[in-house]
Amino acid sequence: MYHSKSILGATADFTTDMLQLSTSPFLTHPKRNTHKICFLIHSLYKQIMLKAMISTDKIKEDLRTRFIGRRLHVYDTVSSTNDVARALALEGAEEGTVIIAETQTKGRGRAGREWFSPRGGLWFSIILKPKIKAREVSRITLTVGVAVTAALNRQFNLNAEVKWPNDVLVNGRKVCGVLTESVTCDETVKMVVVGIGLNANITLEEFSRSLRGSATTLKEELKKEVSLESLLCEIFYRIESEYVVFLTEGFAQVLSEWKALAAFIGKHVEVTVVGRKFRGMAEDVDEYGSLIVRLSDGSVKRVVAGDVKVRIV
Ligand code: BTN
Repeated sequence: MYHSKSILGATADFTTDMLQLSTSPFLTHPKRNTHKICFLIHSLYKQIMLKAMISTDKIKEDLRTRFIGRRLHVYDTVSSTNDVARALALEGAEEGTVIIAETQTKGRGRAGREWFSPRGGLWFSIILKPKIKAREVSRITLTVGVAVTAALNRQFNLNAEVKWPNDVLVNGRKVCGVLTESVTCDETVKMVVVGIGLNANITLEEFSRSLRGSATTLKEELKKEVSLESLLCEIFYRIESEYVVFLTEGFAQVLSEWKALAAFIGKHVEVTVVGRKFRGMAEDVDEYGSLIVRLSDGSVKRVVAGDVKVRIV
């Protein structure tokens, strides 16, 4: 079943504009009112034009999956696709349901960081219901990281790499981040929302100066815009394949693929955990997705993904 631009997104924006019109103090000033109405007509027109950016029909044509993306909700604007996905999952949405937004007003990254989500990017969340324990949730993040990286390499012949715990890099810069959030009960996972943010058809100039040094976009790397629909279909296909391997054959296979794509295993890194820094050699990632760092005194630290920052030094 396909839902396009339903009320949580675009329609809600329109309603807000209409309400502003009817409650605006400008209504008592006929001259200024004309400007206000022109402005509203212009912004409604702009929204209608921009809304055509991600086409559910095109996705439907290209889709090669069994369950991921078979149920699709495409919005113009939401606060965060992870929040919409979570609400839908709690209402009983099926596994594989995908929520896409063309922009997010409160997109978030790991550790509550803000996630810049302008038009032209791919901002979406997938509802999964794996029968796994809470301690295995980080395996989902790594599984999705492998899938997105493989999709980019396959579709654009790039040399994308995974960076622990949840980034995808192209030429050493972050092009994509994965935010996995779960609902658990007694150590058992009830549902997982995997939020994926991919800087696709965006220019670097749109980013703040502070992000420009570490981020990149597909448009920047490929010097052209890409089809968001066909990229989404490739990503859905890769995620479904890796996810099924993980659930049916175990995590070992996915982990070895992850390591083969890893950006900094064997490199010196600086790790920041809740404001505290230490340096060492990134030696490995274990079966629960923890980073193993060897310190200069020979001891080993196991770093669990969470509020952690890692950079190559
Ligand atoms: C990170 O690298 O910190 C993770 C970024 C995840 C961003 C995506 S965009 C779609 C989904 N909705 C959100 O609010 N966040 C994720």
